[in-house]
Amino acid sequence: MSEAFINSLLSQMTLEEKIGQLNQYAAWGNFDPEVVRQGQAGSVINAAGALTGSSQSESCTAETCNHIQQFALESRLKIPLIFGRDVIHGYRTIFPIPLAQAAAFDPQLAEDAAAVAAREASSDGVKWTFAPMIDIARDPRWGRVAEGSGEDPYLASLLAAAAVRGFQGSDYSAPDKIVACAKHYVGYGAAEGGRDYDAGEISEPTLRDVYLPPYQAAVKAGVGTLMAAFLDLNGVPASANRRLLTDVLRGEWGFDGFVVSDWESVIEVIHHGVAEDRAHAAALALHAGVDMDMASRAYIETLAASLQAGKIPLEDIEEGARRILRIKQRAGLFERPFTDPGQAARPMMTESDRALARRFARQSMVLLKNDVDILPLNPNRFKRILLTGNFLHAKGELFGCWTPDGRSEYVTPLDRAVREVAPKGFDLWEADYVDQALDHASQCDAVVLLVGEYPNRSGENNNVTDLGLPPGQAQFIEAITAMGKPVILVIFAGRPLALGRIVPQVDAVLYAWHPGIEGGAALGEVLFGLEAPTGHLPMTFPRVTGQVPFYYNHKNSGRPLNSPNFFRIRYVDSPSSPLFPFGYGLTYTTFAYNNLRLSSETLQGSLQISAEITNTGSRTGTELAQLYVRDLIGSLTRPVRELKGCQHVTLNPGETRQVTFTLNEADLAFTRADGTFGVEPGRFQVWIAPDSQSGLQGEFSYK
Ligand code: NOJ
Repeated sequence: MSEAFINSLLSQMTLEEKIGQLNQYAAWGNFDPEVVRQGQAGSVINAAGALTGSSQSESCTAETCNHIQQFALESRLKIPLIFGRDVIHGYRTIFPIPLAQAAAFDPQLAEDAAAVAAREASSDGVKWTFAPMIDIARDPRWGRVAEGSGEDPYLASLLAAAAVRGFQGSDYSAPDKIVACAKHYVGYGAAEGGRDYDAGEISEPTLRDVYLPPYQAAVKAGVGTLMAAFLDLNGVPASANRRLLTDVLRGEWGFDGFVVSDWESVIEVIHHGVAEDRAHAAALALHAGVDMDMASRAYIETLAASLQAGKIPLEDIEEGARRILRIKQRAGLFERPFTDPGQAARPMMTESDRALARRFARQSMVLLKNDVDILPLNPNRFKRILLTGNFLHAKGELFGCWTPDGRSEYVTPLDRAVREVAPKGFDLWEADYVDQALDHASQCDAVVLLVGEYPNRSGENNNVTDLGLPPGQAQFIEAITAMGKPVILVIFAGRPLALGRIVPQVDAVLYAWHPGIEGGAALGEVLFGLEAPTGHLPMTFPRVTGQVPFYYNHKNSGRPLNSPNFFRIRYVDSPSSPLFPFGYGLTYTTFAYNNLRLSSETLQGSLQISAEITNTGSRTGTELAQLYVRDLIGSLTRPVRELKGCQHVTLNPGETRQVTFTLNEADLAFTRADGTFGVEPGRFQVWIAPDSQSGLQGEFSYK
C-alpha cells in the first residue's frame, strides 16, 4: 500500500466521511456506535470505559477496542479507528517519571522503557500514545515538569528521539509497536508563573534554539504525530498557530504525519480571544494545521457548513484526512485493525520488564549530598536503622503523575521492598508516627527519612507557589535531626524542590523522584550500596522558590551573577547561585578531571576535546562527563554554557581513562536576529565537566 491507496480512498469519501476522520471521539459511558458506523470518528481516545461507562483509570482491553473497531468496519468504507491513550512512563510496568528518566542521562534506557510500554499497551488495543512529552521547562512550579526531560534542549532532544524509537520501532505496523505523539507543540513549558495553561512569551531565537529542537529531533526520528499545546504563545494560541504548525513543522522540517489538538484546545481558542464561536475556532485550528480535533466535536459539527459558506477551503479538510489516513496506513491498521487475542493474552510486567524498571529507577536517583560517606549504609557503622516518613509504606505513590494503567497491587510496599534487598547484618526499625519516630530515632544508629510530594502534587494542572516540601515535613525533619543521629533524607518528588534550608540539616540527600513500580527495591539497592547512584540533575535546583525560573544556560547579562562587583545579579535575601546546578550528581566514589586537550586551536569542520578522568575513591564507579561550550562574542548574546555532549565512564579505584568528545561546526550554530541559523567566527570556551558550573576549561576559535 502506498500514497496511491490513500488518494484512491480519499476519492471515494464523502465530505462527511473526510471530516469524520478529523474527529477524535471521546465518550465516557455514553458511547454511541452509530458515530463510528457512520464514519464520523477517525480515532477514539481512551476506549476504556467507552462501552461500559466506567472510570478513567480502567484500562483499555483488546476486547473493547476490537468491539469498537468492529463498528468502524461496518462503516461504508471500513476505515479503521486508531485508539489513543496516555501511555506516558509505562503502561502496566511503571517506569520512573520522565523527569527522573532524564536524570539517568541514558537514551538507551529510555528507548527500552518505551518499547516495554508499547508492547504492553498494544496488547490491550492501544495503537497510539500521547507521548513523549518533550516540553523544555525552566520553572519547577509548573506541575508538568514531571512529564518532560527538564531544561536542556540537547538532553531533551536525545530523549525525544529515544522515546520515539522505543514506541515506534523501525516500523510501527508491528503488532507490539505504537505510534508516538510529540507534545505539546510548542512552548507549553513557558507558561508564566509556572501556571499550567497560562500564556507564555518566548523570543524567536530562544524558541528556535531551546524549545523547538526536541520537536525537530522527534520529527527526524520519524514520530507519526504531534499534539498542539493549550497555551497562548506570543499572542497566538498554539492550536491556531499556522506559522509553527505548518510553515515550520511541515515546510521546514518536512513532517508528513498528523497533528492532534490537545483536549478541546480547538474550542479553547474562543477563550483565548481569537475566535468568536466554535465554527470560527475550528476553521482557525484546521487552517493552522491541527488535523484532528480531540474531544471538542467542533470539527464534526461545523466544518461542513464553513466549507459551504466559503470560509475554509476543501483542501484543508482533505489534507487533514490524508495525513490521518497515512499514519493509519503506516500503523498497519488497514491490514490488521484488530488486536490478536494471542497478543492480548501475553503477560505484562514480566521479570525482565521489572528488572528494567528497577535499573531505570536506580539510575535516575540523584545523590545530592553524602557527608562523611554515610552512604552506602554499612552495618559495621550503622547497624540499627530507622525507616520513617510519609513514603514508608508507599506503593502506587511511587508511580508518579501519569499512570492510568498502573496498578498499585503489583507494587511491593517501600518498606518491605527495602527489607527484601537489605544485606544481612542490619536491624531495620520502622515508625509511622512522628513521636514514635523520635522515640525510635533515639535508639537507632541512623535514620532514613522518606519524605516528599505525592504524585498528584505534580503533573497536569498541579502547580505550586511554594517549592518547599509539603506542609509539616520540614518540621518533621527538624525534629528528627534534633535527636542528633545521622540522617539520610530520601526525597520523592515530581519536580525540583527548593531545599536550601533542609539540606544543611541532614547528612545525606538522595533524590528519588517518583521512581515507579520497582522504586522501593531500587532505593534499597542504592542505600545499601548493592548499586551506586549515577543520576545527574536534568534541572537546576534552586535554594528558594523565588529564584525560579532558573536554568543553567542563561545569558550572562551586563552585571553577571558571579561578578565580584556589588552591582551584579543578586537577591538581598538569598545567594544567587543554585543549590545544585544542572548536571550535578554524586556517587559512592570520587573523580578527578585532568589534562584537557583540544585537537586544534581552531575548529575547522570538527574538533576533538579530551580529558582524563581518574577514580580517586575506593569503589568502582560511573561518572557522567559533560561537554559544554560558550560562544564568547556573538551578534546576539549567547548562553553562559550549553551542553553539547555527555558520556558515562565506569572506572575501577585508581583507574584513569581518557574521554573524548567531538564538537562539530553545527554544534556552534544559533538563531540570529535576522532569523538565519549559523556559526559566527570568534572565540569559544569549552569544558569537560562533572556539572554545569565546574570542570576543566579550554578555548578555541572558529575561522
Ligand atoms: C490533556 C493533556 O494536556 C495531554 O497531555 C493529554 O495527552 C490529553 N489531555 C489526553 O489525555
